[in-house]
Formats: sequence, structure tokens, C-alpha cells
Amino acid sequence: VSSPDTQHAEARQPVLGLLGGTGEQGSGLALRFAASGLDVVVGSRDPGRAAAAAADLSATLAAVPGAGRVSGADNGSCARQSDVVVVAVPWAAHEHTLRDLAGELAGRVVVDCVNPLGFDKRGAYALEVPQGSAAQQAAELLPQSRVVAAFHHVSAVLLRDTDLPAVHCDVLVLGEDREATDLVAALADRIPGMRGVFGGRLRNARQVEALTANLISVNRRYKTHAGVGITGV
Ligand SMILES: NC(=O)c1ccc[n+]([C@@H]2O[C@H](COP(=O)([O-])OP(=O)(O)OC[C@H]3O[C@@H](n4cnc5c(N)ncnc54)[C@H](OP(=O)(O)O)[C@@H]3O)[C@@H](O)[C@H]2O)c1
Repeated sequence: VSSPDTQHAEARQPVLGLLGGTGEQGSGLALRFAASGLDVVVGSRDPGRAAAAAADLSATLAAVPGAGRVSGADNGSCARQSDVVVVAVPWAAHEHTLRDLAGELAGRVVVDCVNPLGFDKRGAYALEVPQGSAAQQAAELLPQSRVVAAFHHVSAVLLRDTDLPAVHCDVLVLGEDREATDLVAALADRIPGMRGVFGGRLRNARQVEALTANLISVNRRYKTHAGVGITGV
């Protein structure tokens, strides 16, 4: 699937949008991708909230040479303005957000980092998803988009820590479309310390999303922000 926008994106840097970009993960990814030189659109249900978040990020990035432009928009305009759109809303909002934006997301590479998790007294646990995973649900809801799963294990706390020059971790990148998974792996590579590693097709996204529950257990026991590293590559 390709729109005039994505065809142009091959000749220029992609514009990166973030649905729910006002939140922890979205704003952390926005900060790092803008710092890497990409133009970023922070999406929100509320354009005022998006504009405020974009202004905060722009202020933080003022001292970063070569940083991209950060703007804010409602989630629909964010999708329309972007070539690559990261879904960074809570699992409870995943289905309705994507159903409502299917038209705006047509022709885009949609990057899903959503972890369907539940929490109780014993900690985090993986939820059952009828389609198998959040990423497969996205693919079902967005037949005209290229859905890629990535950034599930990247800590928002580390992304947002401006004292940290690098975020050391590997990012498993899953999807059906080689060009799209290569593009998203290359996006991960733009962030210092981070590396994109192809992790298979979307039918194997379930355990990647679920692994986040294990990382949360690691975090609680060791008081850290754990990520994953793949050996042998
Ligand atoms: N936090 C992490 O370390 C981390 C790491 C990896 C992956 N993730 C995944 O990233 C996603 C976002 O996590 P987060 O911690 O950033 O969450 P969050 O801060 O709670 O929420 C992100 C944004 O989603 C929007 N949102 C909230 N409720 C919504 C609803 N009912 N409908 C539509 N939009 C809604 C809000 O933006 P507006 O109010 O501005 O619309 C909010 O700022 C999750 O699915 C999570 O599994 C998180």
C-alpha cells in the first residue's frame, strides 16, 4: 500500500506521528525521534493538549543541534500529516482509536507498541486478545495500512530522561512487509544505543507483547527499567 505521501517519503525523511503522543511512551519516542532529526507530530484526542506537549518537547529540543520540528494535532490530523504513525495509546483505547482512524491511517506504516496487559496484586500479566495480539488486531482494523509491531520493551522512563544520551536496548520489529519492517528497524537505529532487529511475522507478536509483563517483574524486583538484548546478531 502506498500513498503519494509515502512515495515521497522514500526521497525524504519520513514524518513521524504518534497517536497518544501526549503520554509517557508517545512523548518519549517523540523526543528521541525529533532529537534524531525527524519532524514529529504529537497526536492527542485534544489538539490543545497536543500543542502543549509539542511546545514542551520543542523547548527541551531547542539545545539539540539538528533536531526535527515538533508540532501537535488531533489524532486524525496527526495520522494524515505523517508517513509513519506510532500507536501509543493504552490497550483499552486501542480498538476504538484504530477503528475511528482507519481512513486517516490508510497508506501509512502503522507501528504498534501496545502491550495488552492486566495488573493485579501479583503484578502484570498478559491479557488474551481475540485476534492473538494487539498488532494483529491493528492489522485486522487497518487493512489499508502496513502494520508493524515494535518498541514494546522500550522504557518510557529512559526515553524521557534527558540526562541519558543513549537508550541501550534492542527493539524487536515484526510485520508482514519487508520494506516496512526494514524502515521501522532503521528508525530504531536512529536512536543512540538502540538497535532494530527483525523478530518475525505478526502471528508471533503475542509473545513479544506478553514479554513486557516479565520485564515489569524484573523492574519491580531489581528496581530498574529493563529492556531486551538479542545475542548473535
Ligand atoms: N510506558 C511505557 O514504558 C511503555 C513501554 C512500551 C510500550 N508501552 C505501550 O504504549 C502505550 C501507551 O503507554 P503510556 O504509558 O504512554 O500510556 P498513557 O500515558 O497512559 O497514555 C498515552 C496517551 O493515550 C491517550 N489516551 C488515554 N486514554 C485514552 C482513551 N480512552 N482513548 C484514546 N486515547 C487515550 C492519552 O492522550 P490524550 O489524552 O492526549 O488523547 C494519553 O496521553 C500502551 O499501550 C503501552 O502498553 C508503554
